[in-house]
Amino acid sequence: MDRIVSAEQHTVEQRLVDNVVASFDACEDPRLKELMTSLVTHLHSFIRETRLTEAEWGSAIEFLTAAGHITDDVRQEFILLSDTLGASMQTINVNNQAVQSATEATVFGPFFVEDSPEIEIGGDMAFGAPGEPCWVEGTVTDTDGKPLSGALIEVWEADEHGLYDVQYDATKRAARAHLHSSPDGRYAFWGLTPTPYPIPHDGPVGKMLEAVGRSPLRASHLHFMVTHPNCRTLVTHIFPEGDEIGEKDAVFGVKPSLIKEFARQPATSPSPDGRLLESTWSQVRFDIVLAHTTM
Ligand code: BEZ
Ligand code: FE
Repeated sequence: MDRIVSAEQHTVEQRLVDNVVASFDACEDPRLKELMTSLVTHLHSFIRETRLTEAEWGSAIEFLTAAGHITDDVRQEFILLSDTLGASMQTINVNNQAVQSATEATVFGPFFVEDSPEIEIGGDMAFGAPGEPCWVEGTVTDTDGKPLSGALIEVWEADEHGLYDVQYDATKRAARAHLHSSPDGRYAFWGLTPTPYPIPHDGPVGKMLEAVGRSPLRASHLHFMVTHPNCRTLVTHIFPEGDEIGEKDAVFGVKPSLIKEFARQPATSPSPDGRLLESTWSQVRFDIVLAHTTM
């Protein structure tokens, strides 16, 4: 909400905004000019609307400096900041326009690695990671319902302790794999029933979450990245129905269409691939619909 300032004060503040905006007049890149103009206009509106104090400005600088200090090749505090402010999700929304029945996208997260092991359809992506087994199956089609053969399906998730393989050891590969859809667009694999886990919260973003009374927990999820020629690459997750974190997901990644029933099964019930498991297991269906790149 705008606070009332005197006419003289308004003139001083507005002259500065106009001056800064005009400083981009000579910019030859029209997109850069548009972005810089919009950015400073919103930034100045924020400062003026909130009547930002100099001490608050100093705290913001300290916060950004701390985020810079903790950031390295592995830890990216600025992406975490973007994630926790919903900026990552909004950028994903803007760049993955809703198209017919296409599966919705969500955050990528910091735990994807390029060199995951390949598995066959029906294979086990857990590679010994602890957790309740989960049978995941579905189809990959385009928005016309045509099955997509040979789609690359990359999957990764945290184990039952809420940790990804690379958090134990950068070279460890478990609870991640890639596979390809069959000629009729089907896929299936064994994974783990997802569990909630906290985003890295031992740095400035963790302090910010604590200061505003927010939890660092992510809703339980299983990550997917699905690629097929002529289709838009889909980066998404599925979330178990009834998860206690849900809408309070620290990075705002939950979309209703991505919440799926993970049906828990007793140890004695035979699995879809005819196994008898010693523990309970769960089962989920996720039919993936890719948008055409021309849309
Ligand atoms: C993740 O799901 O792996 C994740 C996403 C955003 C921030 C931290 C972790
Ligand atoms: Fe994750």
